[in-house]
Amino acid sequence: MILGPSNVGGKIETSFLIITAACVVLLIAVTATMLAFIWRYRRARSPVAEDVEEKLGLEIVLTVLPTVLVLGMFYFGWVDFDYIRNPPKDAMPIDVIARQWSWSFKYQNGRQTDTLRVPVGEPVKLIMTSEDVTHSFFIPAYRIKEDCVPGLKTHLWFNADQTGTFDIFCTEYCGLGHSHMRAKLIAMPAADFQKWYGTKEEAEGGSKGLELLQAKGCLGCHTTDGARKVGPTFRGLYGGKVTVTTNAKERTITADEAYLERSVRDPGADVVKGFPNIMPKLPVSDEELREIVGYLETLGQDDDHARRNGHAAHD
Ligand code: CUA
Repeated sequence: MILGPSNVGGKIETSFLIITAACVVLLIAVTATMLAFIWRYRRARSPVAEDVEEKLGLEIVLTVLPTVLVLGMFYFGWVDFDYIRNPPKDAMPIDVIARQWSWSFKYQNGRQTDTLRVPVGEPVKLIMTSEDVTHSFFIPAYRIKEDCVPGLKTHLWFNADQTGTFDIFCTEYCGLGHSHMRAKLIAMPAADFQKWYGTKEEAEGGSKGLELLQAKGCLGCHTTDGARKVGPTFRGLYGGKVTVTTNAKERTITADEAYLERSVRDPGADVVKGFPNIMPKLPVSDEELREIVGYLETLGQDDDHARRNGHAAHD
């Protein structure tokens, strides 16, 4: 049994190796027999063809042996498949919501985040769905993968065996931002997880607005550090000039509060030049919208200047 960072990985690996080993043995045996027959029954040695007598015993062996071998391969696959498909009753449920192009993880206490945090040594059950098109949730290091389908609940389960940070990918082409649809899985010691699970606010930045951007999956397409992703960055956006297409006409406007609100509520109203009109409408309450816009304002031009001036003053 091979050990991996999760309970499932080793099982998949073991099955895979057994099947590969069987295939390699067969390949060598069949090829060797073939070469031997070519040599033995070459024309120089047997110029005239002879009738071959039927050998019942040999035929039975050649039927039963491959059947046993194939059923053996099926058995190893089936046992592990059964284990992987059936989560233990006490597994901690976490809702996984896929959308173009981000992942959202919702815990039982209502906590929602864009990074999947789990305790090491405790089974976790992911209950998955999609808000738009078909996506596929994949943790390569854990060897687990399952589709997220709108209107359907699918599931996966695992038990993290080691602490660490692992990649989560979308592995079903789901549109323009597919390659950006990534997230992180953080397997933490159980005590650390409980501490994180118990706290209300996301520690990073401590901002409600930032927490909402993470929870709603906005950061799947937008960044807060100035980098370009599927959509424009939020850094330096507020208060600056932005060229947009409104009703098929290009215009340059100031990114004020009204613009930010409109861009969340009605993403297709003003489309920023150089970016495709693909942002989905997200369910956001009025209060959430205020928090988000409030946070975006702190990332605005003034903030940027202040940071630069701060640096200059420091030097
Ligand atoms: Cu979601 Cu590809």
